[in-house]
Amino acid sequence: MKVLVATEKPFAAVAVDGIRKVIEDAGYELEILEKYTDKKELLNAVADADGLIIRSDKVDAEVLEAGKKLKVVVRAGAGYDNVDLDAASSHNVCVENTPGQNSNAVAELVFGMAVMAVRNMYDGTSGTELKDKTIGIHAFGQVGRNVARIAKGFGMEVSALDPYCPDEVIVEAGVKPVHSVEELYKNNRFVSLHIPATSETKKSVGYDLITLMPKNAVLINTARKEVIDEEGLAKALRERPDIKYVADIKPDTADALQAEFGNRVFFTPKKMGAQTSEANINAGIAAAHQVVDFLRDGINKYQVNK
Ligand code: 3PG
Repeated sequence: MKVLVATEKPFAAVAVDGIRKVIEDAGYELEILEKYTDKKELLNAVADADGLIIRSDKVDAEVLEAGKKLKVVVRAGAGYDNVDLDAASSHNVCVENTPGQNSNAVAELVFGMAVMAVRNMYDGTSGTELKDKTIGIHAFGQVGRNVARIAKGFGMEVSALDPYCPDEVIVEAGVKPVHSVEELYKNNRFVSLHIPATSETKKSVGYDLITLMPKNAVLINTARKEVIDEEGLAKALRERPDIKYVADIKPDTADALQAEFGNRVFFTPKKMGAQTSEANINAGIAAAHQVVDFLRDGINKYQVNK
């Protein structure tokens, strides 16, 4: 059996070595397709693969159709909006993610960007500190929980909104639960986004919410660009010159936003949140074990499609 690792944005080499060991120790063959620029390369490589490990790589109906032998796709990471789950189900392919494996890396970047924003992108002018400021965590999943832990280290006041997470879990983490999105944005100087991109959340954060934020607010997006209504964001930034937006995901309108708002906005050129050796090793090796567990024993603990 063959396992393909297809990563347009490659894992750290040390993670690839770890993945190779897990796959080859199980007696399977490993093929690596990195930094591909043409979808055809993926279509060719997947043709004889039984298992596929990806990151944000798009696995759509065409890829699933090309993968005639494919039985399992593991997204080494959290968000699986890049995989067509219905098409996978109709091809009888199990799709899994590796929850929690890269969440500390993403959470650390939240603070890297928060400090950069309040120090005015390190332009030499006088900035502010995070200590004693309020931070609202929009979705209390694995990344949100790590953000809460680190925020407390900075001496911040932490609250979180998550209709899918019981209040007790939030309270146990020493965080104040809030129950409406308006309350979250109104009462927090910093809001950190951790919602997945779904039909419900796409374009859900825009003008109305952003302009509720208090003076000198910073909106931090290490989730998905799709959750932002970019027109609404631009309108909010225009009306409220005190607000900043920093994101680990280049918006569709990045150039226009940068031209109009200068260093009040910042975008990483490539999604960097999970791009650490530790996260690559954790997520990559977990993915390799999950592929082997599925191909060898039919274990589908982290399956996300029906
Ligand atoms: C995730 O959903 O796990 C993160 O967004 C990381 O994505 P990446 O593997 O493409 O860096």
